[in-house]
Amino acid sequence: MPFTVTIEPSARQFSVPEGGNILSAGIQAGVSLPYGCKDGACGSCRCKKISGTVVQGEHQARALSPEDAAKGFILTCCASAHSDIVLESRQVLDVGMPVVKKMPVRLISAEKKAPDVMLLKLQLPQTETFEFRAGQYIDFLLKEGQKRSYSIANAKPEVLDVDESNENAPRFIELHVRHMPGGLFTDHLFHALKDKEIFRIEGPLGGFFLRPSDKPMIFLASGTGFAPIKALIEQVMTSSDASLKHRPIVLYWGARTLADLYLFDWAHATSQAWPQLSFIPVLSEPSAEDAWHGRTGWVHKAVLEDHPNLSGHQVYACGAPVMVDAAREDFVQHAQLSSDDFFADAFLSLADSKTSAPQAPK
Ligand SMILES: Cc1cc2nc3c(=O)[nH]c(=O)nc-3n(C[C@H](O)[C@H](O)[C@H](O)COP(=O)(O)OP(=O)(O)OC[C@H]3O[C@@H](n4cnc5c(N)ncnc54)[C@H](O)[C@@H]3O)c2cc1C
Ligand code: FES
Repeated sequence: MPFTVTIEPSARQFSVPEGGNILSAGIQAGVSLPYGCKDGACGSCRCKKISGTVVQGEHQARALSPEDAAKGFILTCCASAHSDIVLESRQVLDVGMPVVKKMPVRLISAEKKAPDVMLLKLQLPQTETFEFRAGQYIDFLLKEGQKRSYSIANAKPEVLDVDESNENAPRFIELHVRHMPGGLFTDHLFHALKDKEIFRIEGPLGGFFLRPSDKPMIFLASGTGFAPIKALIEQVMTSSDASLKHRPIVLYWGARTLADLYLFDWAHATSQAWPQLSFIPVLSEPSAEDAWHGRTGWVHKAVLEDHPNLSGHQVYACGAPVMVDAAREDFVQHAQLSSDDFFADAFLSLADSKTSAPQAPK
């Protein structure tokens, strides 16, 4: 007999089979539960259980500490349902999510924007629609069931053809990929990519997208974490929703050197053209040739210096897991940010899941 999962306060409901995975059932039902890695590693799917019986599967302690588990928090991506359940998640919307599809995509271009960052344009099939929310990601489906996730860097599929009125013109998505030496997928991209190569992808995935509110927003990115943030900026710029257009945004983008801010000119020009957007680049190790006179240090610390009180803000953070974890902790504990107003995608890789905090027991 299937059980019912109810999410408060949105009152959204979906069914889950006995012993079934809660997050998967929610995604299948089109309920916009927050999530990131789907692997018990990032903590994005963490929410409070109000009632019901849940068995929590293997996860990393940094995603859900034993103390938080004792307080009734669960990770929906690795929790199974054993009764009707009521959960609290203020990040759930009362509208559905775009349909998740598998499809082939063809490489249009791969342009190096920094020594270790590639901007990919991938053509979508002309026969299928692909809808997503700005900020979501796709998975590349590789051999032997392996997957690698990459955030979409445009707000919606863009037309290749300059003639926007041509409904049949091919459309593309943009990705920003950082090379991880020794990495299965990025070694291929940087050393063995073929012209017009075909990949299989699945998406759109993830719960990283703008939530309706009138609060000012902090966009926080490290490295290629800028990709989904660029999509969010494009969404605001092209939105016909007047309330969204008037929300002040401060973009903090951190990297080691100036070259690592691989779309600096785009971010600078966009902030000049849009008075509601301020851009604060932050370098942790500027080189001598950078001749840098801007902000230095850790990017999330720059946010705290400028905004010691973040209550009444929404924060959207993306990039290195260490940055996302530190920002969540510091903003909530030291700057009065409500944890319901912190939205993030941590770019966890195999290295993070193999070498970081130990797995919490079943
Ligand atoms: C939701 C999400 C969105 C993401 N979006 C982006 C994005 O937009 N842009 C981006 O650049 N990245 C993104 N990532 C990260 C991306 O998915 C990959 O993890 C990353 O590109 C590395 O993939 P790879 O196959 O090259 O490396 P992998 O094969 O996964 O290896 C990663 C690193 O770990 C090392 N390694 C491999 N096996 C082990 C092991 N057993 N023990 C220790 N170390 C090991 C490798 O040498 C390599 O350096 C995202 C991740 C997530 C979860
Ligand atoms: S821990 Fe559940 S989605 Fe990452």
